[in-house]
Amino acid sequence: MTDPVQPRVQVRDLRRFKQHGQRFVMLTCYDVQCAQIFDEVGIPLIFVGDTLGIFVLGYETTIPVTMDAMVHHCRAVRRGVRRGLLVGDLPFGSYEVSVDEGLRNAIRLVQEGGVEVVKLEGPAVELVEAMTATGIPAMGHLGLTPQSFNAMGNTVQARTEEAVERLVADAGRLEAAGACALVLEAVPSEAARRVTASLSIPTIGIGAGPHCDGQVLVSTEMLGLSAGPSPKFAKRYADLRAQVAAAVRCFADEVGAGTYPDPQHSYDWAIKDDPG
Ligand code: KIV
Repeated sequence: MTDPVQPRVQVRDLRRFKQHGQRFVMLTCYDVQCAQIFDEVGIPLIFVGDTLGIFVLGYETTIPVTMDAMVHHCRAVRRGVRRGLLVGDLPFGSYEVSVDEGLRNAIRLVQEGGVEVVKLEGPAVELVEAMTATGIPAMGHLGLTPQSFNAMGNTVQARTEEAVERLVADAGRLEAAGACALVLEAVPSEAARRVTASLSIPTIGIGAGPHCDGQVLVSTEMLGLSAGPSPKFAKRYADLRAQVAAAVRCFADEVGAGTYPDPQHSYDWAIKDDPG
């Protein structure tokens, strides 16, 4: 069911955001509860990123994430999203071997995972063309591409004139192939400004400065749930880790002290107060 007052976000809205200079956000999401919260707040793009490997499954990189894991989490998030546009990530190994295999896996994300847009890293122009011809909106991802961690490390990209020119050219090729938007990760603000100005599809920045049309953050980082150091751009808007720790500690203390469960949280012999 969709809310009649709030129409669903559609792929065509992405260009409209850019044309109207309307800055927008995308947030990563891995489970139904966050999906419901983000959707209720009106986040227009809800993204099941392969960072699920790091922030949910506990791997050090996104490289071990499989198609089955992506489909599993896309389905969970799908159940919580009514209004936002649902974007899913093709994981490492699911599209590099051949365009056919990539297309088959993009179809899986749409058909089994329920996503509306499929994101993929790198200048995979032929696959974007094939997806577009098949009716699957493709979102590109250039700059730092974490699936290439073993080759690229975690370093800021496009820091030379030549590299910026290559970035602008790759972005143009993805747009020409039919991409509906482009994530730019960890590039200098000026590089992102040049790419953004060169495209009519929107750019969505993460560590790419203020000139992108939209911004994306990893939700577990921006909510302060994840442990460990975060990259410079990952602003923390909450400290949920501390709040969760305090709540859990309080529960354990109350059980230890015998103050939980109290009568208010226990069933009475006579009162009919069965749950649901
Ligand atoms: O998987 C992911 O979370 C991403 C973001 C870093 C954009 O690709």
